[in-house]
Amino acid sequence: MSTPFLDQDLVRESLYSDATRLSRRTQALRAAKVAGSDVATIITRLLKLHLPDGGTVLDVGCGRGTTTARIAVNLRPRRLIALDASAALLAVTASRVPQAETVVADFHHLPFYTGQLDAAVAAFCLYHSPHPDDVIAEVARCLRPCGPAVLVTKSLDSYTELDEIVAGSGLDWQTSARPSLYTSFNSDNIEELVAQRFGAVTMHHEQHIFRFADFEHLGAYLATTPKYELGEIAGDAAAITQALRQWRPDRPTIMRSTVSYAVAVKQ
Ligand SMILES: C[S@@+](CC[C@H](N)C(=O)[O-])C[C@H]1O[C@@H](n2cnc3c(N)ncnc32)[C@H](O)[C@@H]1O
Repeated sequence: MSTPFLDQDLVRESLYSDATRLSRRTQALRAAKVAGSDVATIITRLLKLHLPDGGTVLDVGCGRGTTTARIAVNLRPRRLIALDASAALLAVTASRVPQAETVVADFHHLPFYTGQLDAAVAAFCLYHSPHPDDVIAEVARCLRPCGPAVLVTKSLDSYTELDEIVAGSGLDWQTSARPSLYTSFNSDNIEELVAQRFGAVTMHHEQHIFRFADFEHLGAYLATTPKYELGEIAGDAAAITQALRQWRPDRPTIMRSTVSYAVAVKQ
């Protein structure tokens, strides 16, 4: 099933053509989070269990470099490579993590030789691939034997509490027809997809809970999600907030998402 996250033109030319949307989305979610661990901290802890002495570490789909920065500080690898399809986001990573080498590439074709990497991370990015199994195969190819990979995604039902609000307010009546953004790679299929390429996989799941204090906060988040069809107010946080306030009195909104970590080691 197609989703906006699988629309390659949208992904390249709109969602990640600069850092603005991703940074606003991250800010809105961070400000709302009331339960759930810091993902970059968990990733480095899981990697450290299998990577006592640094080496060459790749962050696939690094975005603004949040995980890359944590790897740099917590693991101090000899070589840290941050890879993304978006040159604009890599520029942000380069400024935040000067010790990382940045590589513009499509994660379906990693520009590394077989066995070159000691460890790899791919957080919240494989749901942009219609064939995440191909990316996982590439990651496995590039790892040395016994090299660990940590892959992270979200549950299909992440933030679905919003569907009712968006439909109820009349912003988008068709929310039940809008597929999860995480359809191609999610908490339900991650284990099987990773196991196909790596053999044994250890899974960790954690529920994250978000409390959006009011419609202004919710509008800031809604302006960053491509899930709904919001017409001319799409992307306009102030207009979305106003539309929600016209619908009903302001009140907090609770949303949930399960974050799933797959830890695998190259055989
Ligand atoms: C939600 S961001 C995740 C960023 C980061 N890993 C994090 O956890 O904060 C998704 C990233 O995947 C990247 N991406 C999407 N499709 C890609 C592809 N085919 N090859 C490489 N990167 C891709 C986007 O450019 C974006 O930076």
